[in-house]
Amino acid sequence: MSSRNGAFMLLILLCFQICSALTNVFDTTALKAMKDEWTTPPDGWEGSDPCGTNWVGVKCRNDSVISISLSNLNLEGKLAPDITILSELEILDLSYNTGLTGPLPVKIGDLKKLKSLIVVRCSFSGEIPESIGSLKELVYLSLNLNKFTGMIPASIGRLSKLYWFDIADNQIEGELPVSNSTSSPGLDMLLQAGHFHFGKNRLSGKIPKELFSSNMTLMHLLLDGNQFTGEVPETLGLVNTLLVLRLDTNKLSGDIPSSLNNLTSLQELYLSKNKFTGSLPNLDGLTGLYTLDVSNNTLDASPVPLWLSSLQSLATLRMEGIQLIGPLPTFLFSAYTQLQTAVLKNNKINGTLEFGTNFINQLEFVDLQYNEISAYIQPSAKKDLQVILANNPVCFEVGNGQSYCSTIQHNTSFSTLQQVCTPCEQNMEPSPTCRCAHPFTGTLYFKSPSFSGLFNSTNFSILKNSIADFFKKFNYPVDSVGIRNIRENATDHQLLIDLLVFPLGRESFNQTGMILIGFVFSNQTYKPPPRFGPYIFKANKYKKFYDVDVGYKSLNMGVIIVAVLGAIGFILLLTIAGVYALRQRKRAKRATDQINPFAKWDTSMSSTGAPQIMGAKAYTFDEIKKCTQNFSEANYVGGGGYGKVYRGILPNGQLIAIKRAQQGSLQGGLEFKTEIELLSRVHHKNVVRLLGFCFDRNEQMLVYEYISNGSLKDSLSGRSGIRLDWTRRLKIALGSGKGLAYLHELADPPIIHRDIKSNNILLDENLTAKIADFGLSKLVGDPEKTHVTTQVKGTMGYLDPEYYTTNQLTEKSDVYGFGVVMFELLTGRSPIERGKYVVREVKMKMNTSRTLYDLQELLDTTIIASSGNLKGFEKYVDLALRCVEEEGFNRPSMSEVVKEIENIMLLAGLNPNADSATSSRTYEDAIRGSGDPYGSETFRYSGNFTASKPKPY
Ligand SMILES: *[C@@H]1O[C@H](CO)[C@@H](O)[C@H](O)[C@H]1NC(C)=O
Ligand SMILES: *[C@@H]1O[C@H](CO)[C@@H](O)[C@H](O)[C@H]1NC(C)=O
Ligand SMILES: *[C@@H]1O[C@H](CO)[C@@H](O)[C@H](O)[C@H]1NC(C)=O
Ligand SMILES: *[C@@H]1O[C@H](CO)[C@@H](O)[C@H](O)[C@H]1NC(C)=O
Ligand SMILES: *[C@@H]1O[C@H](CO)[C@@H](O)[C@H](O)[C@H]1NC(C)=O
Repeated sequence: MSSRNGAFMLLILLCFQICSALTNVFDTTALKAMKDEWTTPPDGWEGSDPCGTNWVGVKCRNDSVISISLSNLNLEGKLAPDITILSELEILDLSYNTGLTGPLPVKIGDLKKLKSLIVVRCSFSGEIPESIGSLKELVYLSLNLNKFTGMIPASIGRLSKLYWFDIADNQIEGELPVSNSTSSPGLDMLLQAGHFHFGKNRLSGKIPKELFSSNMTLMHLLLDGNQFTGEVPETLGLVNTLLVLRLDTNKLSGDIPSSLNNLTSLQELYLSKNKFTGSLPNLDGLTGLYTLDVSNNTLDASPVPLWLSSLQSLATLRMEGIQLIGPLPTFLFSAYTQLQTAVLKNNKINGTLEFGTNFINQLEFVDLQYNEISAYIQPSAKKDLQVILANNPVCFEVGNGQSYCSTIQHNTSFSTLQQVCTPCEQNMEPSPTCRCAHPFTGTLYFKSPSFSGLFNSTNFSILKNSIADFFKKFNYPVDSVGIRNIRENATDHQLLIDLLVFPLGRESFNQTGMILIGFVFSNQTYKPPPRFGPYIFKANKYKKFYDVDVGYKSLNMGVIIVAVLGAIGFILLLTIAGVYALRQRKRAKRATDQINPFAKWDTSMSSTGAPQIMGAKAYTFDEIKKCTQNFSEANYVGGGGYGKVYRGILPNGQLIAIKRAQQGSLQGGLEFKTEIELLSRVHHKNVVRLLGFCFDRNEQMLVYEYISNGSLKDSLSGRSGIRLDWTRRLKIALGSGKGLAYLHELADPPIIHRDIKSNNILLDENLTAKIADFGLSKLVGDPEKTHVTTQVKGTMGYLDPEYYTTNQLTEKSDVYGFGVVMFELLTGRSPIERGKYVVREVKMKMNTSRTLYDLQELLDTTIIASSGNLKGFEKYVDLALRCVEEEGFNRPSMSEVVKEIENIMLLAGLNPNADSATSSRTYEDAIRGSGDPYGSETFRYSGNFTASKPKPY
């Protein structure tokens, strides 16, 4: 490579540095997690800035990802649950990647801004997550052509903006959910929906009458190919916006409801292959109907209904196997109708077949096999008409010599591709303009075209031109469009057309071009001419993506630019070098910014979704790994069901505590983000401070300040070796009370701890109490806790009794837990020990007319031994008892509790406003407290803490 070329590359690099925006850390991590799940990731998914560099298919706004569109890129693997962290995401299109497997993330509902969720023709499986009902902005939901199972979640009824709902071609079962009082939502609530495409699943039960109302705006209701039973509800007639109604291939029974005649806009009506009985209702109101198919039902014998003559638009009539009797009336073929195809096989039509004097020209195909027609008068002036009368008496008599006695249907084919070009090499195809290229191909499936048969090429020319015009109008990188191999699916009468889209100016599409074109069809951005009706598109795998290097050469761009650079010469190079040096410096700064999300997420940024993280640092996995010595046993300080807690030492010597969620119990990315945002806003000296977090390599860790003396529980149980006299206990009660009052009354938003207990009150080197382990959500449930499944935390012995009746935890529940901790401070024992509950014990034993309320027996011996005169003791017990009142209403607020403890301290001759006395902790205590190999180090660093004490909280 020449030096000029090198300079060019440099220029490009610089541009990336200058032009690129920085993506927020969360979104980057989410995209990386997605990428890691895929065997061949999309082009350009490299580096740490998806919004800034060329990550194919990713679009951003204000450094947040708003759109991911990756159709037909041969992606293989699963969809990483971390995608749910992309809180600004509006569009997700993964269509036509048949290698995408596994379930949709359970927490997909976290993507609150999502408008389009489109995964047409992938291989996703599992149930549609219930949380999908939280996607309040959702307009397009296309899950068709996958392997989804389970039921339609009723929660979808909450998607009040949903317009497009397609789950066709899956294995979804159960009944259609309808709302039931106010508590349970249902599909009947989707008043904005124009499309219910539910065909080819395993849906069953009755079609609920509650589903339909006159307030609905459904246009396409496709329930074909399921296992619905029972009668079709009359209420269906209320949905007068319906254009296409497919109920065919089910097990529906009873009469066909006469209210269908109210659907005056209806164009397509398919009722075939059911178990309908009785006679056909009068449907003469359906004057716009193009297709009527009532075949293969067990209807009563009846003549061809006269009201058919009112259906002036009818193009296709299918009345196969429904016991029609009598002759075929000639009005069917009169000038008043548009009939093109009439299939009346397997009936008992008799008499003579004739087309009458008013015979119309557009009739193309009449199939009357297996009837009792005894004579046929052929029309004189119709060449293209095909009539099949095989297996009628008329053919028994004449024999098979006549063409109309043959059962072979004309096969017509139509292709707009003029195959007169010289053959192409290497699997390429000639375009309509005879250019050899790799087209994007696939098949269009029209579910109910309103014209009939394959005979009229005009319709297909119109289709082809309409697709080509669409691409041209919106400047897609498309050279030309071809269609071919037009055919009808014999079982469900879908019209299939192969489509070829040729790339503009090159031999094949690059991924960006592919995505653009895939989305046109997966999102139904392209609307075919109205006569084609609803469609889906199945893309074929695209094998030959545009190779960047080859394209580069062929376009000679490199040569041009190098030439230009050469002309401008050294001066420019020098300038570039100067700019480069300057940029290098800024780059270094940006690199640090990137590690510190505070720089980007400070509150002055008004962007709604930007995480509000105040001073919390984002640590990389490697950093954490290093400072915990690869999560060594020696640094393990505790843990529970959620994972483990490690101690770590930052390079600057600061001790930190790391709470690491274990694999398999990670929370949703968004919840994690919410938790960090919340925790990082909490600043109080009696609350453990969040220093940062790690959200990297599929790990979720919270980094807290390290609290050297462990939990209050450790001290009370004697494990830490710290002796807590009465004075210290009052100070701890005051400190933790203040921390909790702060969370309740001053934190923004207010925080209910939900799990106040002595394990969650930590003591620092000055024995200052600090509340730990709080937040809206938790990393995960702790096995020792009673309620893991709900938001509720709470531990036996500390749990608000009111919770059992209300199922709710309030601030007053925290007050209850705090009261129990106050008793723990008195007794030094767990609230429930040997089957005895401390609250009950105290209430039973106490006698308010005696000193110390006669509770000496229950008291921790340390208190008695060290404290002699327990000033304020009785008031303390009174307060604790008020905190554990049965009814939350009767408990004091935490600020009242704090005030009362301050009064008690004054009584005891203590200054409640004095800082926790460092002197109360002896060196002896400290050394004895170090029951682990890192103990001495703990002590060493505690000096460090003291030195940096006047930290602004
Ligand atoms: C709601 O549905 C449940 C079960 O599906 C049923 O037991 C209950 O009676 C229904 N309530 C109303 C108001 O229809
Ligand atoms: C239809 O909408 C009207 C007005 O919005 C409402 O009063 C009525 O209850 C609705 N009817 C049904 C069947 O939902
Ligand atoms: C159908 O329309 C007729 C008259 O237009 C009306 O009387 C009848 O109630 C309607 N039926 C339904 C089910 O909407
Ligand atoms: C009706 O049933 C027959 C025999 O099962 C089948 O061949 C035919 O395709 C069916 N026709 C329609 C329109 O469903
Ligand atoms: C045609 O069938 C009907 C009823 O099955 C019968 O009444 C009539 O006589 C038949 N007509 C002819 C010409 O066979």
